[in-house]
Amino acid sequence: MLEKLQEILNSAKQTVAQIDDKVALTQASATFLGKNGALSGLMKGLRDMQPEERRNMGEQLNELRDTLIKLFEDKEAEINHNLLERKLSSERVDVTIPVHPKEYGCMHPIEALKKDIIDYLITLGFELKDGTDIETDMYCFEKLNVPKEHPAREMQDTFYIDSDTVLRTHTSAMQVRTMEAQTPPIKMISAGNAYRIDEVDATHSPIFQQLEILVVDEHVTLADLIGTLEGVVKKVLGEKTEIRVRPSYFPFTEPSVEIDAVCPKCGGKGCSTCGDTGVIEILGAGMVHPNVLEGCGIDTAKYRGFAAGFGLDRLAMLKYGIEDLRDMYENNITLLKQSK
Ligand code: PHE
Repeated sequence: MLEKLQEILNSAKQTVAQIDDKVALTQASATFLGKNGALSGLMKGLRDMQPEERRNMGEQLNELRDTLIKLFEDKEAEINHNLLERKLSSERVDVTIPVHPKEYGCMHPIEALKKDIIDYLITLGFELKDGTDIETDMYCFEKLNVPKEHPAREMQDTFYIDSDTVLRTHTSAMQVRTMEAQTPPIKMISAGNAYRIDEVDATHSPIFQQLEILVVDEHVTLADLIGTLEGVVKKVLGEKTEIRVRPSYFPFTEPSVEIDAVCPKCGGKGCSTCGDTGVIEILGAGMVHPNVLEGCGIDTAKYRGFAAGFGLDRLAMLKYGIEDLRDMYENNITLLKQSK
């Protein structure tokens, strides 16, 4: 009988030694300690024994049961410990692993430039206005002193949605809309797409970006216009940039001027960037024509205004050293990252 007990103990030890998961352990525990397990069978046999032998055997069996329980408990603790160890080592954070740098996007060069100019003008008290790409003939031309048969329309042939609705050829339409909606003093910026019929090449595109400014107040002069625009050009191309103001013509300004920047690349000597002229055309501007002011109900005896329109594409090309206008619109990531 005692041999039998020893056998059970040995067999239990052997079984447990090979187990390393909880399911197998529960099963093994049932085999030895369960209702129909090895120990139970022996317990049942006690009934048929003599009292002396039964007591002796009972003690032995109890001892074996306690040993087996301890054996299984110890194994369970060992399995739990191993599980935790495995979890801890698989989830360990290695603080010495180099962090992958995050990929940040950046603004498109034109947007970056536009934001620079707007931020600067806002510090001078300008207000930003939203316009729309689709504009009426009335606001794009008529109210800007460009009647139907005016030759200036030829320079601004565009895409017609119907005979009275166009894709705007310039942001100047926003001058009129602002003057009609507001009373002076006015200091407005409006920026966005403009469209003209053009063949696509390295310097032309049927879609481009403009930024318009308008000031209407008492005592506004051409000197204010030049001072303001010189500030913008220096802000964008550097404090040392010189500007050149030359007479020009726009139907909606009188007098009209065009402002060039001395080429920041060659300093005015002439190079491929400025086409050997030493200067780069940056914007058209002028004192708002009295016809335009009056058409918007502004008293020309009291108020005057100046307006200007920047071509943002060319300025961005100049600032970021981009040589082909088409690159601006063709998702060339390397190039676009330059404004980062
Ligand atoms: N709208 C003109 C253009 O597109 C530029 C301009 C704006 C000129 C404001 C004078 C005043 O060429």
